[in-house]
Amino acid sequence: MGDCGLPTLDAERNAEQDAERYTARIRRLVLGVGGESLKLNDPLELDRPTGGLKHTHPPRPRSTPTPMKFFVDTADLDEIREARDMGVLDGVTTNPSLMKTGGGADFHEHIYKICELVDGDVSAEVTATDYAGIMEEGRTLARIHKNVVVKVPLILDGIKALKTFSDENIRTNCTLCFSPTQALVAAKAGATYISPFIGRLDDVSTEGLELIDQIVTIYRNYGYETEVLAASIRHPMHVVHCAQMGADVATMPLGVIKKLIKHPLTDIGLERFLQDWKAYRESVAV
Ligand code: E4P
Repeated sequence: MGDCGLPTLDAERNAEQDAERYTARIRRLVLGVGGESLKLNDPLELDRPTGGLKHTHPPRPRSTPTPMKFFVDTADLDEIREARDMGVLDGVTTNPSLMKTGGGADFHEHIYKICELVDGDVSAEVTATDYAGIMEEGRTLARIHKNVVVKVPLILDGIKALKTFSDENIRTNCTLCFSPTQALVAAKAGATYISPFIGRLDDVSTEGLELIDQIVTIYRNYGYETEVLAASIRHPMHVVHCAQMGADVATMPLGVIKKLIKHPLTDIGLERFLQDWKAYRESVAV
């Protein structure tokens, strides 16, 4: 390292030479030049220059980084208003279960009301599971309001529908994602958002956050524009890790959004400031 903490020119030159040597060796192996040939299980990583293709390789940065978005995960209009009034809300996600607890009598009318409340994307989920049904429901939902994003389950007919929606410029949120391969296929089909469910993976003793890390890395490696919408968030640490990993969006219940700004030392500190202020005002009063 140089004086200012940057790699020296020598170090840079060495790294370049390592990379060249590595590339040349791969070429020889693939082309079978010089008696060498590529064998199964050849320990290529042994002479691979720094990092290589392993998972530890840092994800490539997004070509145009965008601020992290917060969505509220509810169909309850009062909760949506409360989240919106905090001034940091970028959208809403709903699903059939959330409609059951917070939705109005008319689904389409309720989605319209949500769209009118929030200046941002509102996910409304289809309930058909066949291609034709998904397309019909999705097209109708998309006509309700410009903010509507059609939420489509990650099943075979859903993937086919994602592709058609994308061709028709209808934005989509591919939901119920539990694996990186599902996310890769959804991106190839042109999904606007992919929703990996962190909490539900945690519930079955699987590290939900690891899925976020995997998807972010895969999408950045290839420049997929599909946004990673971390879903099924249960607590603030999920949000911290998602932000560190570079998830584009976190959708969470109102309770979690509120917890993001809670800290007992803030409350204690404020209480003390206010007491001291009062004492100061009294001491200077004539
Ligand atoms: C996301 O869009 C889903 O509606 C939601 O995050 C699921 O969360 P849950 O696992 O808490 O139901």
